[in-house]
Amino acid sequence: MNQRNDAHIAETAEQIGQSAAADLGARPKDQMRRTVAPKIEAAVAQREALVAELTSEPVLGVPAEVAQEDPNRVTITRVRNHPHTVAYLKNANANLKLIGYTEHGRRHAGLVGHIAANVLRRLGFPAREIELAEIAGYLHDIGNCINREQHGQSGALLAKDIMFDLGMPIDEVILVMGAVGNHEEERGHAVSTIAAAIILADKSDVHRSRVQNADPTTFDIHDRVNYAATRSFLRVDSNGERRMTLELTIDTEMASVMDYFEIFLSRMVMCRRAAEFLGARFGLHINEVAVL
Ligand SMILES: [Fe+2]
Ligand SMILES: [Fe+2]
Repeated sequence: MNQRNDAHIAETAEQIGQSAAADLGARPKDQMRRTVAPKIEAAVAQREALVAELTSEPVLGVPAEVAQEDPNRVTITRVRNHPHTVAYLKNANANLKLIGYTEHGRRHAGLVGHIAANVLRRLGFPAREIELAEIAGYLHDIGNCINREQHGQSGALLAKDIMFDLGMPIDEVILVMGAVGNHEEERGHAVSTIAAAIILADKSDVHRSRVQNADPTTFDIHDRVNYAATRSFLRVDSNGERRMTLELTIDTEMASVMDYFEIFLSRMVMCRRAAEFLGARFGLHINEVAVL
């Protein structure tokens, strides 16, 4: 009798212990999911709204002097609506999402094109270069539909076919290809004003709305840093000393400034060189403190 009771007590204690341990393990994760999930949902809604804004007509308006000079030129609208652009970008983002990367779809493409064009416009570069920067920005990550490795080079070649199909002249095609093929920090260089603008725009896009992983308990450092960034803005000052400042607001409960530098230091070095190519200084402000 005593023996049977002992066995029963031991078994019950073990069950209680196991369920308590399971609870202990699950509770913080569930709490984290409950706290963060609505914020991710809000960020996804923000991403969708941004896509609508960035891809509605017209994006930037057509610079009048270029439109008059060459009304048949290849515009960002024609490139964006080309069926190959649509398919490459859709699949590039799907592939990267599958292997755990942040958003690289229409939101990122549209934003990079938009920021790159803005950089050149604010610094007073010619109107057609501004348009080509927007095209290169929109196409810069399509190579990810082939592979993440060397997606700059593969993307440049995919972009070439689209641009030739639309009738773009070879000198413009080469400029866009050079910019797309030089945007990766592992092997890219600011080889032209357009390439420099793409580098600055691409590396500036750090934002909560890029996180595609809906489960915060499995965030990697890229998810955490992007999730922590609630605001990113590339300010371009062209009065007096030319200066570009990346202004970030980071929720330091989610990621530290050190986390940011762990993954973005090489990108910031690339941005500094790109800004210098455009005759400007590069600065980084995090939570209103100048860190670079
Ligand atoms: Fe890229
Ligand atoms: Fe990119």
